Amino acid sequence: MNAKILVVEDDERLRTLLLEVLGPEGYQLASVDSAEAAITYLEKEKVDVLLTDVNLPGKSGLEILPVCLQHNPNAYLIVMTGYASVDTAVQAMKLGADDFLCKPIALNDLISAVKIAVQKLAHPATPTFNQNSSTSPIIGKSVVMLNVLEQVNIIAPYKINVLITGETGTGKELIARAIHNLSPRRERTFVKINCAAIPSGLLESELFGHERGAFTGAINQKIGRFELADRGTLFLDEVGDIPLELQPKLLRVLQEHEFERLGSNRTQRVDVRVVAATNGDLSKLVAEKAFRSDLYYRLNVFPIQIPPLRERREDIPLLVRYFVQKFSRRQNKVVQYVPADAMDALVNYAWPGNVRELENLIERAVLLTPGKELRVPLAELRASTANADNSAAGAGIGTFVSAGPSIATLEEAERQHILRALRQTEWRIAGAKGAAALLGMKRTTLQARMRKLGIRRPV
Ligand SMILES: Nc1ncnc2c1ncn2[C@@H]1O[C@H](COP(=O)(O)OP(=O)(O)OP(=O)(O)O)[C@@H](O)[C@H]1O
Ligand SMILES: [Mg+2]
Repeated sequence: MNAKILVVEDDERLRTLLLEVLGPEGYQLASVDSAEAAITYLEKEKVDVLLTDVNLPGKSGLEILPVCLQHNPNAYLIVMTGYASVDTAVQAMKLGADDFLCKPIALNDLISAVKIAVQKLAHPATPTFNQNSSTSPIIGKSVVMLNVLEQVNIIAPYKINVLITGETGTGKELIARAIHNLSPRRERTFVKINCAAIPSGLLESELFGHERGAFTGAINQKIGRFELADRGTLFLDEVGDIPLELQPKLLRVLQEHEFERLGSNRTQRVDVRVVAATNGDLSKLVAEKAFRSDLYYRLNVFPIQIPPLRERREDIPLLVRYFVQKFSRRQNKVVQYVPADAMDALVNYAWPGNVRELENLIERAVLLTPGKELRVPLAELRASTANADNSAAGAGIGTFVSAGPSIATLEEAERQHILRALRQTEWRIAGAKGAAALLGMKRTTLQARMRKLGIRRPV
């Protein structure tokens, strides 16, 4: 198919390069240097593939997308932008972008993106990737969880690195697997590596592999996780634990898609989508110079934050019922209902170990239950609450767990307070009825605090 491609890029060097790279592939090429010129062009000519930059001198490149679709609803839209602009990515996808390339652009990514575009145009019936897969379900109906799931659906099909943050047991790995299973890579492997669980001296060879004799003890050749994950997804768990000296090599594979096995000069090329996770604060590590900022930006192209369970208590009854069913089936029991006082206690408990702690507790509860009514070991909750807060010791069921989130840190309290104000004002920040006025803050101060605390309006 002799597809017609319009390239919109204001940087002349890059524009020329794009045309040079795509030229030999046999497409009909046109190029302009602004959104205005692109719109004028599209009024006259129908294009099959639009390849556009976002930051252009006049109008934004995003304004071209609807115009292009208006003239050719089947057009394939590829957006190019600098990394770390999640809002742009989300906005672009809402406007109908089909793919997203991060600058600096790897030329082989560009060529394969355009090839995919042209293939899809030739076979428009290719199935979409947003179909349900056979993995464990993600339970949740709270606004915050639905927001997380929406982000997963938006980002999954694209080869964009994702950084998942959240406390222990919030479901980071579950979300990482969902991203893989909803992506075109789902037929290939999902490879996992926990950077904290491997002694730092061995991590390099685990990630990149080694040749026989590369170091004392390297008796056999070893294939690293990056090679195993080729054309699939690599889940870098506890990514904050990657030692500084290994970070340049990781950065290189993310940027150039290449590396060498230890003890080898041969360069391996791989096509790996990286999903990283951490339960710490990577930006803090960056500030402390324990984590390279360029690597952080590469990993954090699309951040997904999973809220702790105590901030989405509406999900607790659903999760309880789901786990009761799961473990009853597994243990051949017929547990059918959860007494109201037990459910109340479960909903009000602070869950420092989040969903994993809840899951483990329900598993034990099902084991302890002789009949149809779930017997919850409430004393366990009472004990751990008493440990956390002595004033609660000895109080009766129903009052032993303080309602509302336990105040972990001042920062967390501030986050909650700002979120409440934002919800109350329907996310209006400025003006007399905005959250800034409500909180007695200047608009810019509030915005700075929101950035600092990672508060974003749900999309
Ligand atoms: N929304 C959910 N619905 C159903 N199960 C969940 C949900 N969230 C978490 N789980 C379950 O809770 C357990 C912990 O989840 P997961 O291992 O993904 O957490 P994590 O954030 O990776 O924890 P850690 O930081 O300790 O590694 C898993 O068994 C997972 O299946
Ligand atoms: Mg995990």
